Amino acid sequence: MQNYQLGIFNEEANIFNVTEYKVNENISSSRIKKALNNALHGKSEEIEVVVSFGKDILEVLAPQIQPKGFKNYVQLNGVNDFVMPSNQADLYFRVIGIDNSQVLDKTIQIQEALKDITTIVISENGFVYKDHRDLTGFVDGSANPKEEKKYLAAIVPEGEPAAGGSFVFHQKWVHDLVKFNELPVSIQEKVIGRTKPDSIELEGDAMPADSHVSRTDASHEGVAMKIWRRSFPFGSATEKGLFFIAYTCDPFRIDIQLERMLGNTKDGVYDQMMNYSKATTGAYSFAPSLEDLKTIL
Ligand code: HEM
Ligand code: MG
Repeated sequence: MQNYQLGIFNEEANIFNVTEYKVNENISSSRIKKALNNALHGKSEEIEVVVSFGKDILEVLAPQIQPKGFKNYVQLNGVNDFVMPSNQADLYFRVIGIDNSQVLDKTIQIQEALKDITTIVISENGFVYKDHRDLTGFVDGSANPKEEKKYLAAIVPEGEPAAGGSFVFHQKWVHDLVKFNELPVSIQEKVIGRTKPDSIELEGDAMPADSHVSRTDASHEGVAMKIWRRSFPFGSATEKGLFFIAYTCDPFRIDIQLERMLGNTKDGVYDQMMNYSKATTGAYSFAPSLEDLKTIL
């Protein structure tokens, strides 16, 4: 039995940092591995780190790990000139905890260990906003799979290549909150597909085909495309949004949801949320099982 990285399923953390790094040209594998060891060295009971690798660097560092269907994320285009750009990088760290100081210390430890061999692509902090709401005011995470189902959704099963690992998708979204907040709540609820105060899914005729839930609650050949979401809101006076994070046993599930959001389906129906929020980054990485991770470090 391969053990997944524990931080993937942590639901207690309320302070987050994600930092994505591109490894510079002509850095040897042994130097990268040494830096990774320094980055991850030291344990704290209150901190968890999920480390994941872009396709190109995984091939260099660990050719023995071959997740099926792993690929670089390439920009997607949709109807209405919608764009979901790529910022595909090499090394991904999600540091989570309940203490701001510890999350920051770990984030800095990683950054200092990697600074001579990498360039930072993005570093974003976030926190749990109110009762697990996105900054639009809607609860985020309600339809995440529960109990055993979350492992089925997120972890490559036993018997498959790279079992115990998880495909990771990061996508930074910047909201136009002023525009969204101008909508009456009843319309906002139609954009999302759930009620605002208590996150009840709209039913029957009340659920529009172009709501966010309708576009992402998808099936393919009879299989529900379930994923495990661990997104976090971020915000300042300059920029507000959601750092979308999802773990999946198969990146195809994410692809389907993104294409449906973009309106790249026969009916051309797109996600109404695309009118109020803009994707500004996007990348796939792979979080190997703990056993596979040891073979890299
Ligand atoms: C559901 C917010 C982007 C996949 C939801 C819900 C909210 C939400 C409020 C309903 C409550 C819940 O079940 O969690 C957002 C925001 C986004 C965003 C604010 C960015 C602006 C995405 C992206 C994907 C996605 C990029 C897929 C790649 C899903 C899925 C569900 C969901 C699978 C559950 C659908 C169901 O089965 O009912 N999201 N989301 N979301 N979202 Fe998103
Ligand atoms: Mg549903």
